[in-house]
Amino acid sequence: MSIAIYPGSFDPLTMGHVDIIHRGSRLFEKIVIAVLINADKSPLFTVQERVEVAREVFRDRANVEVDTFDGLLVDYARRRQASVIVRGLRAVSDFEYEMQMALMNRRLNQEVETVFMMPAEPYTYVSSRLVKEVVSLGGNVKGIVPDMVERRLREKKLARETLRA
Ligand SMILES: Nc1ncnc2c1ncn2[C@@H]1O[C@H](COP(=O)(O)OP(=O)(O)OP(=O)(O)O)[C@@H](O)[C@H]1O
Ligand SMILES: [Mg+2]
Repeated sequence: MSIAIYPGSFDPLTMGHVDIIHRGSRLFEKIVIAVLINADKSPLFTVQERVEVAREVFRDRANVEVDTFDGLLVDYARRRQASVIVRGLRAVSDFEYEMQMALMNRRLNQEVETVFMMPAEPYTYVSSRLVKEVVSLGGNVKGIVPDMVERRLREKKLARETLRA
């Protein structure tokens, strides 16, 4: 069985991620969304919230699983008996870092292959960081994140503003 791991922070999940996961779920028997624990010291959403969102968004896709991991990705892949790491490529700017990671991961574990996929064009400029920035400045992110994420972003913003007031 071909199991793929799609690792990331997903803080929050965007339509760019969703696009890549749909492509992966057509290509591999199983794709595991692996939420990295502790990557960012001050994330907007907790790991648990991010897992909840991803599970809800992909509840109807039987071969999409959501999990968390920390430590070396290749060790996690080995534990999950995964042969593929999926990464998304948006622009040339992603390439340098992604190539470095892919080659380092190959050095650490020859059995795992990194596969890159490109999202649909409208999502090529979408990143979690940009989404958070736009929301914090009062902008609208409908259509570039799942509806559920859009709702949760608004709730977070309100909660933060209430705290500050
Ligand atoms: N819009 C997108 N289209 C295609 N791939 C994407 C997109 N956004 C993220 N990815 C890919 O998803 C994987 C996980 O990314 P990550 O969780 O870091 O998201 P991100 O949007 O880059 O977040 P941040 O802005 O916090 O870095 C990476 O391989 C990244 O290149
Ligand atoms: Mg990123």
